[in-house]
Amino acid sequence: MDRLSRDRFRDFLKDTVRQEVDFTNTDQNRGIAPPPIEKPIPSGSQCIDLVPAEKLRDISVIDVFTAIDHRRSRRVFNAVPLSMQELSFLLWATQGVRKLASPGNAFRVVPSAGCRHALETYLCVFNVAGLEEGIYRYLPVEHQLLPVSQPAHLSYRISEAALGQVFVGKSAVTFIWTAIPYRMEWRYDIAAHKVIAIDAGHVCQNLYIACEAIRAATCAVAAYHQELLDKLLGVDGNDEFAIYLAPVGKVKGD
Ligand SMILES: Cc1cc2nc3c(=O)[nH]c(=O)nc-3n(C[C@H](O)[C@H](O)[C@H](O)COP(=O)(O)O)c2cc1C
Repeated sequence: MDRLSRDRFRDFLKDTVRQEVDFTNTDQNRGIAPPPIEKPIPSGSQCIDLVPAEKLRDISVIDVFTAIDHRRSRRVFNAVPLSMQELSFLLWATQGVRKLASPGNAFRVVPSAGCRHALETYLCVFNVAGLEEGIYRYLPVEHQLLPVSQPAHLSYRISEAALGQVFVGKSAVTFIWTAIPYRMEWRYDIAAHKVIAIDAGHVCQNLYIACEAIRAATCAVAAYHQELLDKLLGVDGNDEFAIYLAPVGKVKGD
């Protein structure tokens, strides 16, 4: 690695980029309407209701201290299906909407720079009671699932897209987060991208803790083949692209 390009990538982690942004000239400050807080739902879609958050209050089987203390990356899952209640809890814990604020702005259970929430959640479902195998998208505002596609050989294809990490295709459900960068760029211009990555970390950490709370398991995965994964999800790879994955299943031996 030559020093110049190394330093360029190190700069990505710094906030010096902010000095390059003319904040009077961002799309937000030029009066352009904010982008939608979630990707639109194609007309005629048959969305699937999830269990409402208020009915999930007692789902945790351990306290917060124990959940944090037990947290570790787990890559082996048993064959016990996740219930819709458990899946609803994991989706709420990672991206649930707490309060709709104004058009283009909603508070969620995780923090986000400028409350821009530039992430979408896709699921590769393999073993969730009541759901067919396939790819789904979470709709945080409606707290519903949108069926996206049912590709053949999904387990093989998601493992291939995860660079041969086969456990990614042996889960009950694999979470895949995409970024829609414009949601953050609208406010922060070229200072948007580092904070999108930080936001993804918060989301995945909540998934780890929520999994521990219901005796499920997960493992963050950031090594994947960009084009294969974007193609599998059906996203364009520029205005929306995958940035992080996490397979989830019940814990081996439980
Ligand atoms: C950003 C990030 C990316 C990761 N990518 C992978 C991955 O691609 N494959 C994998 O098996 N584990 C991955 N991990 C899990 C780490 O290997 C794991 O967190 C680390 O070994 C420490 O173990 P622990 O999480 O059990 O404490 C990733 C973790 C993070 C936070």
